[in-house]
Amino acid sequence: MLVAPSILSADFGKLADEVKEICENGADLVHVDVMDGHFVPNMTIGPVVVEAVAKAATKPLDIHLMVENNSFFVDLFAKFNPEYISFHIESENHPHRLIQKIRDYGIKPAIVLNPGTTPKLIEYLIEYVDMILLMSVNPGFGGQKFIPIYEKIAEVKEMVNLYNPDCLIEVDGGVNDKNIRDLKTAGVDIAVAGSYIFKQKDRKASIDSLKV
Ligand code: DX5
Ligand code: ZN
Repeated sequence: MLVAPSILSADFGKLADEVKEICENGADLVHVDVMDGHFVPNMTIGPVVVEAVAKAATKPLDIHLMVENNSFFVDLFAKFNPEYISFHIESENHPHRLIQKIRDYGIKPAIVLNPGTTPKLIEYLIEYVDMILLMSVNPGFGGQKFIPIYEKIAEVKEMVNLYNPDCLIEVDGGVNDKNIRDLKTAGVDIAVAGSYIFKQKDRKASIDSLKV
């Protein structure tokens, strides 16, 4: 299992140190949650802060857009050279165009599904993306209760095997040491975890406990 700590639960008063610490203690990616106050009922960070995160990070960025105007935010964040930019299918009317735009920047495109969104909606997009992010909470906040989406993960895994076996599956929301093994069994490749990692002093131990 690859582990992508979500910096949403970090101490923003010392964000650069927090980012450096997870990178030095086993993080595979740095998960960056961008919220616009429209698609989700919360706001987080824009390009000024993401620039500071990018400078501090020694692991690739995984930018998760939770916004209405995806194309605008892709233009804003592309210059920080993230590994992935993921967008919610629920907020995008032109997904093929947006996927191509992300790729044209040399970034890996990924699609996100809310817990209530059927994977059928993205069946014909899987061949074009490098990752599918399945939300196991309704997006907007850290520290929410995990929704057991195991059947959905298995369904997406089957589709991935059929259409694009190289496409990775990431899960985000309420991930911890209690559900990580079941997530692995269901077919997850990358675990995003915010509060579980940042509420523990020993970041190495918390990240290691998710590497099943
Ligand atoms: C929620 C964000 C998550 C969040 C996860 O909308 O997309 O990345 O930070 O936090 P935890 O792991 O605490 O659920
Ligand atoms: Zn996220």
